[in-house]
Amino acid sequence: MPIVPTSAIGAKFIGWGTSLPEKIITNDDLSKTLDTSDEWIRERTGIERRHVGGTTASLSIESGRKAIQMAGIDPLTIDALVLSTTTPDRTVPATSATVQHGLGLRCGAFDVNAACSGFVYALVVGHGLVAMGMRRILVIGTDTLSRITDWSDRNTAVLFADGSGAAIIDAVSGPGHLLGWDFDADGSLEDLLYAEIGGTLHMEGKEVFRRAVRIMVDSAEKSLKASGLTSNEIDLVVPHQANLRIIEAACKRLDIPMSKTAIILQDTGNTSSATIPLALFDAADHGRIKSGDNVLLVGFGAGMTAASAVIKWNQS
Ligand code: COA
Repeated sequence: MPIVPTSAIGAKFIGWGTSLPEKIITNDDLSKTLDTSDEWIRERTGIERRHVGGTTASLSIESGRKAIQMAGIDPLTIDALVLSTTTPDRTVPATSATVQHGLGLRCGAFDVNAACSGFVYALVVGHGLVAMGMRRILVIGTDTLSRITDWSDRNTAVLFADGSGAAIIDAVSGPGHLLGWDFDADGSLEDLLYAEIGGTLHMEGKEVFRRAVRIMVDSAEKSLKASGLTSNEIDLVVPHQANLRIIEAACKRLDIPMSKTAIILQDTGNTSSATIPLALFDAADHGRIKSGDNVLLVGFGAGMTAASAVIKWNQS
């Protein structure tokens, strides 16, 4: 059954920010140490370069600070920090504690880990907190996958990287911008993509690819149904940025042209929790989204998880 938001109190974005480490690794750089090539990586993934460096907390503090600045708010008015990450800096405490302190917040803070679907999970959880009476939530999606990547494994090293995106959602008196959403997970598929504690990522690439297309489409269709929209009423799709071919296959099945997608993976690689906020706010900053546009966020990741949400831009 599609889940339709029922709360009378909704929320909308009032500020956002992004952060990427300075260090850039190109495909040509990788081909110096791996049996790979720029041509292979571009053709099979769409990725051209990626940013690597920093910690999950440092990138989160940078994107969070920009979001607070854009919103023009006092950090002390933030009621909760929800940080989506699958690469925490420590096992204990949650990285959100470090970020909360770094940003000078005085509020509850916790991590959410749903791998690459995590930002959409965290965003919906943030809306849930607003429905329960909080007014202002900082939602951040950050990953530093370079720290759990085996840089001698060409199957994974060409894909993963680091980045962060943050958003502040603020309570509004109307239904708010979240029209519909969906969460999914199938733990029986956990061995397709995993890293042991202290270890590096192992991936069954072909099988992840096959499943990813299916679960993205299923989740997107559920969110569309919940929001009462059809795919041709979507103005912009912001998909998880893992592989351009996955995005093309999913959009084809959803009957959404690629001209309506926000794509940044050529410059960032797969930054897990950060891909959706990085692509969403890049599109917003470049004037690709106008008030009233219907924006579909759709992610998938290890677990395997999937999550999607339909946002009506700027709606109170
Ligand atoms: N450079 C050059 N050759 C490579 C390579 C690389 N980096 N990685 C694999 N190859 C080789 C393979 O060994 C294989 O060689 P063979 O034909 O001699 O056996 C050939 O390229 C094709 O490999 P294959 O695995 O079939 O490629 P693919 O088209 O499936 O692309 C992925 C591989 C990993 C890019 C693709 O499967 C993928 O993106 N999967 C999903 C991964 C993902 O999204 N992960 C994150 C989830 S959040």
